[in-house]
Amino acid sequence: MTTASTAHRRDVPAARPALTDLITAVRYVIAMRADWARTAILVADQLRAHLPGPGILTAGQRRGQPGRPAGHVLHAETDGTFSILGLVWRPGQSTRIHDHITWCVVGVLAGTEHEDLFDNQLNPIGTRQNHVGEVSGFAPPGDIHRIRNDGSETAISLHIYGTDITRTGSSARRYYN
Ligand SMILES: [Fe+2]
Repeated sequence: MTTASTAHRRDVPAARPALTDLITAVRYVIAMRADWARTAILVADQLRAHLPGPGILTAGQRRGQPGRPAGHVLHAETDGTFSILGLVWRPGQSTRIHDHITWCVVGVLAGTEHEDLFDNQLNPIGTRQNHVGEVSGFAPPGDIHRIRNDGSETAISLHIYGTDITRTGSSARRYYN
């Protein structure tokens, strides 16, 4: 879901108090050992119930960065089962077209994120406008997409991945453009 995550484990801060309940809930889902598709649905339910505000990021982080979306690792589970990132998108910023190495759940905390969906021949198959408070979850295969901020204000989203992103370096399996 992101091309922006290159943080290393030493950069991962202690879990923010506002994420404590969410982390506990995701651990509970992981312990159910459901398949990826089901896990994404269940984790999305928990993110809806525990969605933080944009203040989960510092004021400096919320400003974003030039060039590409800025990713901030907020939590990486020590057993590698999941991690939580905040992403900040200035107007016009976009991911490349990509799919994922694991299940993903995304909640929008500020702004609006435009999502383009593609089939495995890269034919456009749909678009979505993801607004503040909306949460979506999905899992490979059939997960090729691109996200961009086509609004006029900075967008912020919280991403939960079914792996430790500080170890894999990215949630993307492959880029298509
Ligand atoms: Fe993605």
